[in-house]
Amino acid sequence: MNFLPIFYNITDKPCLVVGGGAIAARKAELLLRSGGRVRLVAPEIGARVLEMADKQALECEQREFRQDDLNDMTCAIAATDDKNLNAEISRQAQARGIPVNVVDNPDLCSFIMPSMIDRDPVQIAISTGGVSPVLARMLRSKLESCIPGAYGELARLADDHRDAVKRRLPDVDTRRRFWETILDGQVAELVFAGRTEDARQQLEQELESFNIAGVRGEVYLVGAGPGDPDLITFKALRLMQQADVVVYDRLVSQPILDMVRRDAEKIYAGKASSNHAIPQENINQLLVRLAKEGKRVLRLKGGDPFIFGRGGEEIEELIDENVEFQVVPGITAASGCASYAGIPLTHRDHSQACIFVTGHRRDGEEGLNWEMLSHANQTVVFYMGLENVERICSSLKAHGRAADTPAALIEKGTTTEQRVFVGDLDSLPGLIARNEVRAPTLILIGEVVALHDKLGWYKPGEEIR
Ligand SMILES: C[S@@+](CC[C@H](N)C(=O)[O-])C[C@H]1O[C@@H](n2cnc3c(N)ncnc32)[C@H](O)[C@@H]1O
Repeated sequence: MNFLPIFYNITDKPCLVVGGGAIAARKAELLLRSGGRVRLVAPEIGARVLEMADKQALECEQREFRQDDLNDMTCAIAATDDKNLNAEISRQAQARGIPVNVVDNPDLCSFIMPSMIDRDPVQIAISTGGVSPVLARMLRSKLESCIPGAYGELARLADDHRDAVKRRLPDVDTRRRFWETILDGQVAELVFAGRTEDARQQLEQELESFNIAGVRGEVYLVGAGPGDPDLITFKALRLMQQADVVVYDRLVSQPILDMVRRDAEKIYAGKASSNHAIPQENINQLLVRLAKEGKRVLRLKGGDPFIFGRGGEEIEELIDENVEFQVVPGITAASGCASYAGIPLTHRDHSQACIFVTGHRRDGEEGLNWEMLSHANQTVVFYMGLENVERICSSLKAHGRAADTPAALIEKGTTTEQRVFVGDLDSLPGLIARNEVRAPTLILIGEVVALHDKLGWYKPGEEIR
């Protein structure tokens, strides 16, 4: 990130615009809308600037730029056609520590102007760091369409009641819960429907009767998918953004954690196969305790919580303790990794069934039905099988699966670090050792694996031509 996103108060502060054309006029308008006092200097002045000068909205001088124009300025914008002059203005302003923007030249800027969504007093600024203003504008139009125009009105209503709410609800967390119910509930709907007065009354009634003790905590058991943040569901995203606390596993990738509400408390409950950061019983109790404190608890798990995720055990405890919960499925590793590796889990010609199995031995025994797993024309997916790969391959062969049955290892599937190795039941253990394959890795066994050569499409790190 080359630029710090900040909002700068320029109310009643002098701002300089150099240039008299349409772009300079637009910049001057923005400064005026933000409360700045604008002085504009240019040898040639266009119609739009003249119009603003006539209305005395800004001070306009028809002449060349002079060094002393920068005296006492809060910021300066160079919007001339003259590259040398723009560079000179930038140099002089920066030498004096005055924030300067040069139109269409990020290298000469000490600040850049974002693309804006204006729902005054709500402002949303989008920046690509000056790299692609067109992309910023495209993002803006996407956001424009999903942010109602009345958000400004809603913010003003909230502002009118800020002090009263602070007095009535001195605790910060309680206040936040109150505001969340207001800004996402009936009050907001009334504002959006143009019924501001009704919204005001409703807000005051809700403030009067609000009781945090009546707010019940809840647990959201959410599947975060196998790694690519684009693979989480809309529902997961919504709950991630309203949680007070998140209890997450080792498999939840950083880009996904970054999508959780920024000020939510984050508790790592990480799990590697032999290293339980917090024992499962304690995780269950932690969820119950946090929910009983009235918190919205996000239990975020890699993949799907109900597939080798012990999600069932967690909600069993919640049910026993009478705690409300929701379960949000996620894309399980088998599905995500197979798709990103170009290996269909079933195929009319090669595989009529697909089985998900754990390769992790509990008390030294998988307890698996090897005979059933060794049938031909099916795909077997081993989760957590890396450490036992030799046993897996030899057991399958011993129960009749051909030694040349295609087999794949998918490491860190769906992420930008995904690696796929293809071999067969004989060569799989050697592939792991030679390539230093590490967890999380999924093992796929079956004829469909051979399709990877043709169907493999996701090649992170490879240049696309
Ligand atoms: C405890 S299980 C959790 C499975 C998860 N609940 C799911 O539905 O995907 C962990 C195992 O899932 C597999 N796994 C999870 N994410 C993976 C990924 N991105 N790439 C490869 N394997 C993955 C690995 O075999 C790992 O050892």
